[in-house]
Amino acid sequence: MGGPTDRRILVTGALGQIGMELLEALSEKFGAENIVATDIREPDNFENAEINFLKLDVLDFDKFENLITEYNINEVYHLAAILSASGEKNPELCWKINMDGLMNVLELSRKYKFRIFAPSSIAVFGSDVGNLARQNSPLNPSTIYGITKVAGELMAEYYHSAHGVDIRGLRYPGLVSWKVMPGGGTTDYAVEIFHKAVSSKKYACFVERDTRLPMMYIDDAIRATLQLMDAPSESLTIRGGYNLPSLNFTAEELYFKIKEKIPAFECTFEPDHRQEYADSWPDETDGALSQNDWGFELEFDLDSMCTIMIESLS
Ligand SMILES: NC(=O)c1ccc[n+]([C@@H]2O[C@H](COP(=O)([O-])OP(=O)(O)OC[C@H]3O[C@@H](n4cnc5c(N)ncnc54)[C@H](O)[C@@H]3O)[C@@H](O)[C@H]2O)c1
Repeated sequence: MGGPTDRRILVTGALGQIGMELLEALSEKFGAENIVATDIREPDNFENAEINFLKLDVLDFDKFENLITEYNINEVYHLAAILSASGEKNPELCWKINMDGLMNVLELSRKYKFRIFAPSSIAVFGSDVGNLARQNSPLNPSTIYGITKVAGELMAEYYHSAHGVDIRGLRYPGLVSWKVMPGGGTTDYAVEIFHKAVSSKKYACFVERDTRLPMMYIDDAIRATLQLMDAPSESLTIRGGYNLPSLNFTAEELYFKIKEKIPAFECTFEPDHRQEYADSWPDETDGALSQNDWGFELEFDLDSMCTIMIESLS
C-alpha cells in the first residue's frame, strides 16, 4: 500500500458511535472521495455529503463482495457489531453478527488482499484478571459479547498466520464521545452522564458509585486507530487486539469532576443488570505494548476530557 491517495476505504457499521467520528477523521486524512460508508440502517443525520453512503448488512456476503470489487477497496474498517448490553439481550444475534460478519471480512480479505481494522474490547477480560489487565492476562469473559471478541481475536491471529491477512485490532476501553449516542454498551453511562449534566442537570447512573473501568476520550481512540493502520506491518506483534493505555476513574469521580464544572448537577447511583458486566471487567489496562510497537500515547486526561465534552454539548 502506498501513500494516502492510494487508500480506497470502506467502513462497516459506519453510523455508530465510533464510525461517525472515524469517517470525519478518515475523510480529513484521505479525502472524502476515497471513502465508502456503509451500515445496515439508513442515516438520518449524515452530514458529510461528499462521503458515499451505501446500505450494507455485513452478513450479506455477495453484496459485500460486490462493493469491495466495484470500489476497488484496499482498506476496511469493520465496525459493525452488537455491543455488550444489547448482546446479552440477544446472544444469538450477537454471535451471528460479530462472528459471521468478521468471517465475511476475513474471507474477502483473503481473496482481495485488503488491510482490515477490526476492533476488540476490554470485554475480552473476565473477573479472574483482577484490577490491571495486561496484554497477556487470561481471556475468560462472562458476556457473549466478550466471547465473540476473544474468538474474533483468535480468528484474526489465525487468518494472519495461515493466510497472510493484514488485520489489525485494538482492545478499545469504554469510549467517551459526544456526536453520537453509544449503541448499547456497559460503559454508556460515561457518555449519558454528560448529556444529562448539560440538559436536565440530573442523572441516575446505572452502575455503583465505586465502579472503576478503563475509559478513553474518542479523539485518542481515533488517533490510535489511524496510527495502528499506518504502522509498518513488520513492527506489529499482535493482530487480534492491542491493549491500550486508558484513563480509569470511578463513576463517582466522574460525577465530581463534572460537578466542578456544572455545580448544579446532581447524580444518583441506581445499578441495574449492567453492574454485573462492569464488575467482571478490569479497572485499568496496561498499554505498554502499543507504546513499544507503534508509539501510542494518550493525550486526554479526565479533566481535559470533561472540559471538551461539556463545551461540545453546551
Ligand atoms: N464504543 C465503545 O465504547 C467500544 C468499546 C470497545 C469496543 N468497541 C467496538 O467498536 C466497534 C464499533 O462500536 P460502536 O461503539 O461504534 O458501536 P455502535 O453500536 O455505536 O455502532 C455499530 C453499528 O453497526 C451497525 N450494524 C449492526 N448490525 C449490522 C449489520 N448486520 N451489518 C451492518 N451494520 C450493522 C449498527 O447499525 C451501528 O450503526 C464494535 O466492534 C465494538 O465492539 C466499542
